[in-house]
Amino acid sequence: MSKESVTLTDNSTGKQVELDLLSPTVGPKAIDVRKLYKELGYFTYDPGYMATASCSSAITYLDGDKGELMYRGYPIEQLAEHSTFVEVCYLLLYGNLPTAEELMKFESIITRHTMLHDQVQGFYRGFRRDAHPMATMVGVVGALSAFYHDDLNIHDPIQRERSAHRLIAKMPTIAAWSYRYSMGLPFNYPKNRLKYSEDFLHLMFAMPTEEYEVDPLMAKALDVIMILHADHEQNASTSTVRLAGSSEANPFAAVAAGIASLWGPAHGGANEAVINMLRDIEKSGQPLSYWVNRAKDKDDRFRLMGFGHRVYKNYDPRAKIIRKLANEILDRLPPGNPNQKLFDIARELEQIALSDPYFKERSLYPNVDFYSGVIFLSMGIPVSMFTVMFALARTVGWVSQWCEMMSDDEARIGRPRQLYMGATRRDYVMLDKR
Ligand code: SDX
Repeated sequence: MSKESVTLTDNSTGKQVELDLLSPTVGPKAIDVRKLYKELGYFTYDPGYMATASCSSAITYLDGDKGELMYRGYPIEQLAEHSTFVEVCYLLLYGNLPTAEELMKFESIITRHTMLHDQVQGFYRGFRRDAHPMATMVGVVGALSAFYHDDLNIHDPIQRERSAHRLIAKMPTIAAWSYRYSMGLPFNYPKNRLKYSEDFLHLMFAMPTEEYEVDPLMAKALDVIMILHADHEQNASTSTVRLAGSSEANPFAAVAAGIASLWGPAHGGANEAVINMLRDIEKSGQPLSYWVNRAKDKDDRFRLMGFGHRVYKNYDPRAKIIRKLANEILDRLPPGNPNQKLFDIARELEQIALSDPYFKERSLYPNVDFYSGVIFLSMGIPVSMFTVMFALARTVGWVSQWCEMMSDDEARIGRPRQLYMGATRRDYVMLDKR
């Protein structure tokens, strides 16, 4: 079948260029513009990459209009219901669901990489106790490469895989140590007999003075939340990991760059911003309409955090699952739980916004961050750790996308161009002449 194409005509010169139309397995086709500059001398212009595919990928697909999300073709709803986070890690990394034997082997490898070199504890002690845990996480993950000098050949697929395993396995320890350090508590060490999410709760909350009992409901809820956050196509932090990795930087440095990008309140930092917003709303005594009107006011920087999405112009499928999970957890907690009040405010805010033309016209719906904080609070995880939780879960997505890029023959160093709007050529004027 002949290649599909589009023809672009330069109306100022009449010159035409035929550009190939690339067909995906599902989703929009893409115009291959790689020869555009050579043939027509023009760049494409797309700040924020609203309509630009930066790469081809087989990992995650989302349909923003339908509110659909799939990891390697499996709908997120089915994975959240039937899978585990470690199984989803295998799926994202290797492309298919594992057999029982493959899963057991993979789980054993991950379990045995959870320890950190004891000198890593020294990194934490260099930070103030009140340092934001995302600051310690960026620092510690970036520094981890210092411990694997002999294993950082990014052109060796075996060493790439081992780095991916190390990052997935060590993130719970790194994240929990950030929390323990901020609380002035001794670090806990991983326990191989515990499952991934159970071990994280143990790393976070076990006290040396007594045996720690993992709450199975909280461990299951955490596992589901991490499945929902594991990957999400070419979002800002994943694109950052790909761009950093495209220069052949080591995977620890690339993931540290991704953590830094995720930190922003427009991205992964939104889950922390949502709870701070709900608490401000609760304290203000103002009616919710006051806050919704502020969110609509162009002269007011206030936005409804946890609302809106670059791709989803329908309900974020992850938000639906998280809202249901929040309900189940809160129903189990004693009445008068302070988090119930925050959840009720969030639910009411959602109802008001979704019936308001401003939000409907702009297809603004709750996203993954709108309800997740209520669950984290119910687990005893403080607000400052919310984005760390996002980074913990998203690490598998980052390393899976990095591995895919490093084995992609089409991959090359990312180097966008620009629309230059600065001064044209001019000569230097000596100081005494200005
Ligand atoms: C994540 O990309 C991913 O996949 C990210 C993520 C992942 O899993 O990796 O899904 C995780 O980052 C979710 C998003 C978390 N961020 C927030 O909740 C912060 C609040 N949301 C907004 O900042 C915003 O919606 C973004 C950043 C999420 C999306 O911004 P866009 O796509 O650039 O859209 P925009 O800012 O151009 O907004 C379009 C319009 C504007 O109004 P007009 O200029 O058309 O009049 O919608 C308005 C915006 O002012 N708008 C909002 C709003 N979000 C957008 N108005 C009020 N409240 C909001 N939250």
